[in-house]
Amino acid sequence: MSVLINNIGELVNNVPDSSGPPGPGPFMSFADSALVIDAGRVAWTGPAARAPAADEMIDAAGRVVLPGFVDSHAHLVFAGERGAEFAARMAGLPYAAGGIRSTVAATRAATDDQLGANLRSLAAELVAQGTTTFECKSGYGLTVRDEARSVALAAEFTPEVTYLGAHVVPPEFADDPGGYVDLACGAMLEACAPQARWVDVFCERGAFGPDEAAAVLAAGIAAGLQPRVHANQLGPGPGVQLAVRHGAASADHCTYLNEADVDALASSATVATLLPGVEFSTRQPYPDARRLIGAGVTVAIATDCNPGSCFSSSMPLCIALAVREMRMTTQEAVWAATAGGARALRRTDVGHLGIGARADLVMLDAPSHAYLAYRPGVPLVAAVWQAGQRAA
Ligand code: NIG
Ligand code: FE
Repeated sequence: MSVLINNIGELVNNVPDSSGPPGPGPFMSFADSALVIDAGRVAWTGPAARAPAADEMIDAAGRVVLPGFVDSHAHLVFAGERGAEFAARMAGLPYAAGGIRSTVAATRAATDDQLGANLRSLAAELVAQGTTTFECKSGYGLTVRDEARSVALAAEFTPEVTYLGAHVVPPEFADDPGGYVDLACGAMLEACAPQARWVDVFCERGAFGPDEAAAVLAAGIAAGLQPRVHANQLGPGPGVQLAVRHGAASADHCTYLNEADVDALASSATVATLLPGVEFSTRQPYPDARRLIGAGVTVAIATDCNPGSCFSSSMPLCIALAVREMRMTTQEAVWAATAGGARALRRTDVGHLGIGARADLVMLDAPSHAYLAYRPGVPLVAAVWQAGQRAA
């Protein structure tokens, strides 16, 4: 059954550019438009005045329609919460990677049902805020059994499953970090790879060094996974270079970059995924988005939703922060949250509303995309479609 959405005040479609790479093209938007969904795909877009007939008609009444948000970085399989750690941080304590271990203990102690229920409610929270594709990492289990059940649970909700066994060294391996890397590259990877698409590693002081991280990425690639890296979050370091060297789809965080890091990203296909909710929630400096964009790096925005460094599932919040705090234009921020996320996940079917794209779209109670930053914190999402089906 075809559905016509008519009288769209602004249609953001990031249509693929035939001279560019496959997938979303540059930010593109049109006034007074219409869009037809058929068989879960975008079948037609154009001026409202020329809209074809369809089985069902929805009047957008001048509201904006844009591609569903693509959240390319989220840690949603966990139990427990760390509100007290957040409060202590706001009272002056610094953020440290070690907090991850308290979530690991809670996650190991949780039943499959508890983990699944938590993930289900977070996934619903994302969709309600306009996210139609999300990546989901393991990384709070850190035993073969707990990582395997984490990726299996994630796979029930998204095809973008990431094996993050190398998140931190768990306490039982404190005296033998090399032994843990062997496990993460061996039996744990073997148990997780069949359910995952990506391999990730937290390359950071207090987590994994460059050699350990390289071993994890190489093992993951050998097991058929594609790499992505948590890089340069808490300080300068080798993460970005490592990501580029391994042909990673994305280097995530990119908060502390030097000239060589920016150059390496600019001359590679690795996307820089910025996670401004983390800087908001940890009071760290924001990454320098202008420098990256100025150098020609492809920039994505994602939430990093996790119980420690950013417990927000809101792409609209990230867009507002990107605009206000990282000085991205409203167009750049919306592109980064849709097309950029698609590039970071190497997806050509989402992040744009070109003909044939998955009909993943969001309608806002607003006349233009700029309202995502202009009206921060306001629940603007009026409707969400995933593969042509109303999801919210
Ligand atoms: O992306 N950097 C590592 N992992 C998460 C933090 C997870 C946590 O604090 O629990 C991040 O910020
Ligand atoms: Fe993360």
